[in-house]
Amino acid sequence: MGQLPDAPATARLHDRTMSSSIESSESFQIPIEAAEAYEAAFVPAFFSQWAPVLCDAAGIMSGQRVLDVACGTGIVARTAADIVGPTNVVGVDINEAMLSVARRVRPDIDWRQGDAAALPLPDLGFDAVLCQMALMFFPERAAALREMGRVAATGGAVAVLAPSDLDAQPAYGPLVDMAAHHAGPEARSLLSTYFACGDLAELRGLFESAGLRVTTTGGHAGMARFPSVDALVATEVESTPLRERITDDVYERIRLGAHEVLAPFTTGDGSLAAPFECHVVVARQG
Ligand SMILES: C[S@@+](CC[C@H](N)C(=O)[O-])C[C@H]1O[C@@H](n2cnc3c(N)ncnc32)[C@H](O)[C@@H]1O
Repeated sequence: MGQLPDAPATARLHDRTMSSSIESSESFQIPIEAAEAYEAAFVPAFFSQWAPVLCDAAGIMSGQRVLDVACGTGIVARTAADIVGPTNVVGVDINEAMLSVARRVRPDIDWRQGDAAALPLPDLGFDAVLCQMALMFFPERAAALREMGRVAATGGAVAVLAPSDLDAQPAYGPLVDMAAHHAGPEARSLLSTYFACGDLAELRGLFESAGLRVTTTGGHAGMARFPSVDALVATEVESTPLRERITDDVYERIRLGAHEVLAPFTTGDGSLAAPFECHVVVARQG
């Protein structure tokens, strides 16, 4: 998701590397080149747009202590640091390569390796705990939310931003329907990881079962930009096991189908600006 100068090469950053469903963090580690490409291509084109939205929703203010869970290369932590000061911010991610890039870009922030479901931090330490575009990749979502609540101060905010349901996605919904039409139901599940926390009622329930009191929920309309429809198809299909499970012929039908369903979002120069809807859920601890 993002405007990728070299989409096929960087596509593997996408779902495969974002998910920690592989049992151990050791086997999950991605190469440093992939993390550098994430920072260079995906952050400016896609992930950076959401960071101010999440910081605003959590109401973070100067001097507060902020934790960025599953920080990746650190766009949310960096945005928060500009508000609260870098010494008040900690970023945690399971992936050491992402953290290496984060350290290179902002050495003044405290970056730590850890699993969201077992945060390497003491109780009650943060006024705001933020998590952007990552909850859907966690194998233990309820445990991760409980951990976010544990490390939040009494009355502190836990704020999560995650993509809305496919039904609410004007570009990705029809795209996934079309791919499932050509490649079967497995295509739907393989292309749907990003939207796995998209049901707002379910997401609220997850917060509540983790002992967090939801105070506000909201939607935010953003954009996924690509240099072309083909670049989007390469990113979305080649970054999942779907590509290996379909023939070249089916891949070509999906590519042609994408040109049809994404036509309303294509501009004169062939580039694509696909609307992308997210939920922001803010809860309080205690
Ligand atoms: C799509 S990236 C989002 C990164 C960052 N929040 C951003 O907005 O750029 C998802 C991140 O979740 C991290 N991640 C996945 N599972 C995790 C887990 N169980 N604990 C901590 N981080 C995890 C990945 O390493 C990756 O950096």
